[in-house]
Amino acid sequence: MDLNIHKATIDDARAISSIWKVICAEKIYTAVNIPFTSEQERTYIAQLSDREGIFLAEIKKQIVGFQSLDLWAKYTNSFDHVGVMGTFILPNWRRNGIGEQLARYTINFAKLNRYEKIIIYVRGSNNKAQNFYKKLGFIKKGVLAKQVKLDGNYDDEIFMELFL
Ligand SMILES: CC(C)(COP(=O)(O)OP(=O)(O)OC[C@H]1O[C@@H](n2cnc3c(N)ncnc32)[C@H](O)[C@@H]1OP(=O)(O)O)[C@@H](O)C(=O)NCCC(=O)NCCS
Repeated sequence: MDLNIHKATIDDARAISSIWKVICAEKIYTAVNIPFTSEQERTYIAQLSDREGIFLAEIKKQIVGFQSLDLWAKYTNSFDHVGVMGTFILPNWRRNGIGEQLARYTINFAKLNRYEKIIIYVRGSNNKAQNFYKKLGFIKKGVLAKQVKLDGNYDDEIFMELFL
């Protein structure tokens, strides 16, 4: 597999938005239910700091997934050592090690950029993603009950953390 990983620029907004459309249509994996438009992605990428990014998995010129790294919060610098991650791979490309390779890249970027820990939050029903993060070394720390409500149905949100 000829996998190329690189940091997204505003020119990648459309490809990222297309992936959101697919993942949101699946309905079961993320609390995000309305896909971010290309314009929203462009605005989002443009406001990211140098310590943040969306890392793209590209195979034969096709963007097949991405992983994001954001600061946990920006209203105080006491959280500057904490990042939050999210990972989204197109259905046909899952379970090929792409998520793991993206994580290697993102974690290396995080270490170079003074992060000390990364947290993720995942839907309680999303066992696949919880397994994925567990394999990367993330540890389950907490459950927010009925945190997600979609079409009248509740789901929990699980918090996991990884010290770098
Ligand atoms: C979760 C997700 C990001 C994993 O990415 P991926 O590229 O498919 O994962 P990898 O192939 O790198 O898997 C690495 C390891 O994670 C675990 N894992 C990944 N997918 C799994 C699944 N469907 N079931 C059980 N374990 C799984 C396994 O331990 C796997 O190692 P193995 O294949 O050697 O057993 C991907 O399935 C995805 O995009 N899902 C939909 C969106 C989503 O749920 N995102 C997370 C929201 S925070």
